[in-house]
Amino acid sequence: MKIERNDPCWCGSGKKYKSCHLNQDNKVKQYELQGHMVPTNDLLKTPKDIEGIRESSKINIAVLDAVGKMIGPGVTTQEIDDLVYNLTTSMGGIPAPLNYDGFPKSVCTSINEVVCHGIPDPDRVLEDGDIINVDVSTIYKGYFSDSSRMYMIGNVSEEKKKLVQVTKECVELGLQMVKPWNFLGDMADVINRHAKENGYSVVVEIGGHGIGLEFHEEPFVSYVTEPGTEMLMVPGMVFTIEPMVNMGTSDIFVDEEDDWTVYTDDGLPSAQWEITVLVTEDGHEVLTY
Ligand code: MF3
Ligand code: CO
Repeated sequence: MKIERNDPCWCGSGKKYKSCHLNQDNKVKQYELQGHMVPTNDLLKTPKDIEGIRESSKINIAVLDAVGKMIGPGVTTQEIDDLVYNLTTSMGGIPAPLNYDGFPKSVCTSINEVVCHGIPDPDRVLEDGDIINVDVSTIYKGYFSDSSRMYMIGNVSEEKKKLVQVTKECVELGLQMVKPWNFLGDMADVINRHAKENGYSVVVEIGGHGIGLEFHEEPFVSYVTEPGTEMLMVPGMVFTIEPMVNMGTSDIFVDEEDDWTVYTDDGLPSAQWEITVLVTEDGHEVLTY
């Protein structure tokens, strides 16, 4: 059903459509007519949704901060899982990974050549020289948040340190491209170029995603696409920036036994940082980090 100019806006602001989202909707329509991929309005978060995602994000950030305080040589990935579960639930949240598509734990812990979706394990003790991605996702009052950080355990080699650092820079550079009327491909391209300039490669098959009312929403967010391609960025979109950067080739495979753990094909290390970002009227706001 078409909204008329004087009807209340679809976003729930209580304002009339003509003085709220009408102009933006028309602008988006123009891009669509030119053949671009554009978000449907149900991907644009309302102020109420954004407030909910912000609250969820606060838990997610606090959990990662706490992981940073306890992690180190001798700690098992199961102990990280226990901390994530206990702290998240003590704040009224639910760890989103737990039972997601059958995932058995509350957090993903991906060490060295593990690209992502590593499963916490009481037998995996963190050792001097490991690099680990801890990927935390929270559901709070129905709203989802998601972010991950790298931690360096003890004395890490210069090569691995550089991989971790460059991957972080990739996210920071990508973030600078997040503003209305840019394309997701503009962001992907700066990330991919920075990785390549340092001799690394970006994983193709797994990427980021819209998030908020569900864990994984449209669009799929690639970090290997061309400028001016992929979905148009429109105020109210919330998505993750989470490139997986490999020291060697971008080829990966999934563990046949657990059906989750993703490894680099060449056995070289991989790093990932993840933030959740909101597209605002004049740029962006980082919701989780
Ligand atoms: N947290 C991951 C992401 O960034 C998703 C993990 S799915 C899980 O999208 F089931 F493995 F937790
Ligand atoms: Co994610």
